[in-house]
Amino acid sequence: MVTPYRHEPFTDFTVEENRAAFQAALNQVEAELGQHHDLLVGGERIKTDETIVSINPANKEQVIGTVSKANRDIAEKAINAADEAFEQWREWDPEARAGLLFRAAAIVRRRRHEFAAYLVKEAGKPWKEADADVAEGIDFMEYYGRQMIELKDGKSVNSRPIEHNRYFYQPMGVTITISPWNFAFAIMCGTTVAPLVTGNTVLLKPASATPVVAAKFVEVLQEAGVPDGVINYIPGSGSEVGDFLVDHPKTKLITFTGSRDVGIRIWERAAKVHPGQTHLKRVIAEMGGKDTVVVDRDADLDLAAREIIVSAFGFSGQKCSAGSRAVVHQDVYDDVLEKVVHLTNDLTVGDPASPDTYMGPVIDQAAFDKIMGYIEIGKTEGKLMAGGIGDDTKGYFIRPTVIADVDPEARIMQEEIFGPVVAFGKARDFDHALEIANNTEYGLTGALITNNRAHMERARHDFHVGNLYFNRNCTGAIVGYQPFGGFKMSGTDSKAGGPDYLLLHMQAKTVSEMF
Ligand code: NAD
Ligand code: ALA
Repeated sequence: MVTPYRHEPFTDFTVEENRAAFQAALNQVEAELGQHHDLLVGGERIKTDETIVSINPANKEQVIGTVSKANRDIAEKAINAADEAFEQWREWDPEARAGLLFRAAAIVRRRRHEFAAYLVKEAGKPWKEADADVAEGIDFMEYYGRQMIELKDGKSVNSRPIEHNRYFYQPMGVTITISPWNFAFAIMCGTTVAPLVTGNTVLLKPASATPVVAAKFVEVLQEAGVPDGVINYIPGSGSEVGDFLVDHPKTKLITFTGSRDVGIRIWERAAKVHPGQTHLKRVIAEMGGKDTVVVDRDADLDLAAREIIVSAFGFSGQKCSAGSRAVVHQDVYDDVLEKVVHLTNDLTVGDPASPDTYMGPVIDQAAFDKIMGYIEIGKTEGKLMAGGIGDDTKGYFIRPTVIADVDPEARIMQEEIFGPVVAFGKARDFDHALEIANNTEYGLTGALITNNRAHMERARHDFHVGNLYFNRNCTGAIVGYQPFGGFKMSGTDSKAGGPDYLLLHMQAKTVSEMF
């Protein structure tokens, strides 16, 4: 019997001992920087001439590491290796597969600060955000392992006299995991281990900005005992390797997390049946967000201001769940805005390796340019109240930015910026606030700050998002507690970390016997 699932506690960095341990891990990682990581295909390490160079977004001169880069030939080899390995892996006892996840979780737990330190360096995460990212990855392994044990015998169905019906789940086959850089450990890990534990084989293509932490995790899976060919590590260009893997006739399942545009491209391409393909591909696509914090007239305004800050500026606003819109009742609008501006001006921006930094850099030059572009647009669409300043001389730093009096249809109210920018809009009343909250093509997260129980009930039904929070921020879903996934163009609402997630990775089979 495994112990009941409980989510991994976060590290308390007010404790001196924890701070010292984390600093030691940062020093260790700093000393290791610049190493090279090969591809892993069918258990074989492959070095290529072409490489991806991963850099520290807080210090562009610092190379985190290099990784070999897969091309189409290598991707073909990896698909064939995964297809071959599937024949044995699918026969493994589900409890044994779950055991591998528990072992991998234990290894990561022992090296938890080291993994988080890599996230500080490679993704620019401040300590707390990096620690939470690793904790979430551990949670995925612990939770999905237990879910698989629960599902291993299928579910009960009715049988009539002299008949025995059975209903159970089987794996699908070769899975392509395509992960983003913003939860470079948690999402990469969760979307890799869910197909693995359900009996599928995986080709992992991590984001090009954060391939090193993924390489480190693949080593853990090998150490835990995942057989050759079951996990394959093939970083590469999205357009070259990504399209090739998505189109391949042997691909059975694609689990993608990333932007709306790439998600749509994958969704459309996966629908096409290619010569030699004898099945329809299944796609899990979790995409962008334009998430809203609604503040009601009857609300704790200090709480509202604090939760808007956490929602908008946690990890520099680079979360799909980020609350990049604050929609505030007109009677309390000025008060909430003033409190938020005041708190924003006090936030520290700088090197995430320092424990005092609240906000680190954004991920790369393209993100910096895009966000600064949106700030310029925002200045024409509303009133700049805080921030608006960027500096990309050493790393990609942008001050947290508040733009007030923005029309609900304005671009900065509609488009995902994916940076530390929050747009404020005024609502006439609660109905109007809900109407604005629902007026984007996205539907991922949202928060309502209110003391009005009837308004909570309205929102429960009519605030159209996959994850809705009352009287708290709209980020930071916990595996097994707040299953995560969005409506509308935010994706397929797969609900990662929830009780139905693993089912998306299997096919249900009915076997009926007459006696
Ligand atoms: P992205 O779409 O640019 O890249 C995601 C992954 O797709 C990367 O591994 C990339 O290399 C790959 N890719 C790019 N082109 C491809 C192609 N043609 N075929 C196959 N793969 C391809 O996204 P990103 O910048 O890494 O991440 C940020 C985005 O992810 C934001 O929009 C954010 O909202 C979203 N996101 C969503 C969730 C969620 O759960 N809904 C979670 C995290 C991030
Ligand atoms: N699961 C992450 C969050 O809730 C994306 O912020």
